[in-house]
Amino acid sequence: MDADHIMRAVGLRLAQAERVLFITGAGISADSGLPTYRGVGGIYDGVATADGIDIEEALSGPMFQVRPVVTWKYLAQIEAACRGARPNAAHYAIAELERHKPGVFTLTQNVDGLHSAAGVENLVEIHGCLKRLACTVCGWRTELETYAGLALPPQCPECSGLVRPQVVLFGENLPMDQLERLYAALDEGFDMVFTIGTSALFPYIVQPVLWARSQGIPTVEINPGTTELSTIVDYRVQARAALAMPAILAAAGLHGRRN
Ligand code: APR
Repeated sequence: MDADHIMRAVGLRLAQAERVLFITGAGISADSGLPTYRGVGGIYDGVATADGIDIEEALSGPMFQVRPVVTWKYLAQIEAACRGARPNAAHYAIAELERHKPGVFTLTQNVDGLHSAAGVENLVEIHGCLKRLACTVCGWRTELETYAGLALPPQCPECSGLVRPQVVLFGENLPMDQLERLYAALDEGFDMVFTIGTSALFPYIVQPVLWARSQGIPTVEINPGTTELSTIVDYRVQARAALAMPAILAAAGLHGRRN
């Protein structure tokens, strides 16, 4: 089957579904001009940082403890790449679907805030968001639109403690409140599960898809590249998210905004 036929088939299943889980990664924001980490358009594939360390190490909790300047340098690079980016047709398609189907739920690994910017509300940002900062000493919090002009690493205006973004660094625990919301949604069940633009590296990303597959619930992967889920899902849409999502919504008889 070619991609158009698959998208039409996915749209027909989507029209029937009420509770739909979208699991998204960096690839959904690639069409907004953001780089991905790995896979198609990946910036970190096998490349050490300018500091000669792996990016996972630079962006790790242990590194932040001992050399916050290094971690902040790469966090700021990611933020600079996100700066000024706007949601694309795939982000808007999920927001639109949410308005048609209150059972739509999005689990994202992205820290770029673009799902919220598109108006998505039933959202778990499992890796946090770069815009939210907090003091590691006194808990002071703020939200920033941009890091432009920020002295790195930033200091808390209240206690001069080290400030960090509310994101999950490598080796750190996932936020308990977000996990609880995800588990509550999973407990209620879904009747369709999509992954969009993720290399599906983490168990909490892969497991809902495997669970759905084992229950006979339709699973869909939207990704121009190949992942470990590509041979597992029922429908593999090998296309860019911003093209695929409006086409799927249109096939479901729902409007699909194009960018
Ligand atoms: N549309 C859909 N998918 C795309 C597109 C696109 N236009 N362009 C690229 N992709 C795919 C790539 O082929 C790849 O499989 O998106 C995927 C991006 O994978 P990653 O960069 O690994 O992103 P992600 O899965 O979100 O990474 C997980 O790892 O580095 C950490 O914390 C970071 O949240 C991130 C996590």
